[in-house]
Amino acid sequence: MSTTRMRKMKADGIPISMITAYDYPSARLAEQAGVDVILVGDSLGNVVLGYESTLPVTLDDMIYHTKAVTRAVSRPLVVTDLPFLTYHGTIDHTLTQVGRIMREGLGQAVKMEGGIEIAQTVDAIVKAGVPVMGHIGLTPQSVFQIGGYKVQGKTSAQAQKLLDDALALEQAGAFAIVVELVTDELSELLTRRLSIPTIGIGAGKHCDGQVLVFHDVLQYTADPVPKKFVKAYANLGDHIRDGIARYVQEVKARSFPAEEHSFHTDLELGQLYGHHRDESDKE
Ligand code: KIV
Repeated sequence: MSTTRMRKMKADGIPISMITAYDYPSARLAEQAGVDVILVGDSLGNVVLGYESTLPVTLDDMIYHTKAVTRAVSRPLVVTDLPFLTYHGTIDHTLTQVGRIMREGLGQAVKMEGGIEIAQTVDAIVKAGVPVMGHIGLTPQSVFQIGGYKVQGKTSAQAQKLLDDALALEQAGAFAIVVELVTDELSELLTRRLSIPTIGIGAGKHCDGQVLVFHDVLQYTADPVPKKFVKAYANLGDHIRDGIARYVQEVKARSFPAEEHSFHTDLELGQLYGHHRDESDKE
């Protein structure tokens, strides 16, 4: 998968599938399932590291997890989130951060949240040879400024701003844009106005592709929180809890390990019990 292939998919009306992954097994499974793009999202903070938001996620966290994902896959394009405040300083500083993702994490592309205000930075990163995916609408790194996880683009002023942001990102060279938590009508408009693909999350059916968080798709969580825009295709949380509970039960009952899990020897080990072997053992 490549950025040019994604653009061709848009032109040909072929939907693009994208999912997050943060480690080797989840990335391998996503590739085997045929996913087109893997996002090493900073949702890592919420779903894997146990933070309340994505803000505490560091560049080192993203590099560490990108390395695990890129080791796992060969076909899907791997996109890594630039974490909070790593791209708002000087262009030189930003390019150093991006360079670390590409060199140390073996990343293939980066994703950045924002619109017009980051367009110049996007342009510089693209000119440095790194593909950039934009992210507009509900941008979780600005959740405290936005005032919560709310649907965006509901007023005409907001809709105009999001269109201007999307066009600025396209103009700056972004190869695709994630559109998060916006109305169906607005994402349809954005998808028609842009020549680069839109990838929706909570943005209805008109986008050129869809992205969801791995742990939401599979309900791989101990404490599921229902979200209107998520469809769960499995319930790993229940399977995992049940599996571990049965293991614990069998350990307590001494029914695991059973004969088939055990190894034997013909050696006579009696004398090795030494002083620790009590009288009943000796008989
Ligand atoms: O970090 C993430 O998982 C994301 C998706 C929600 C698009 O940015």
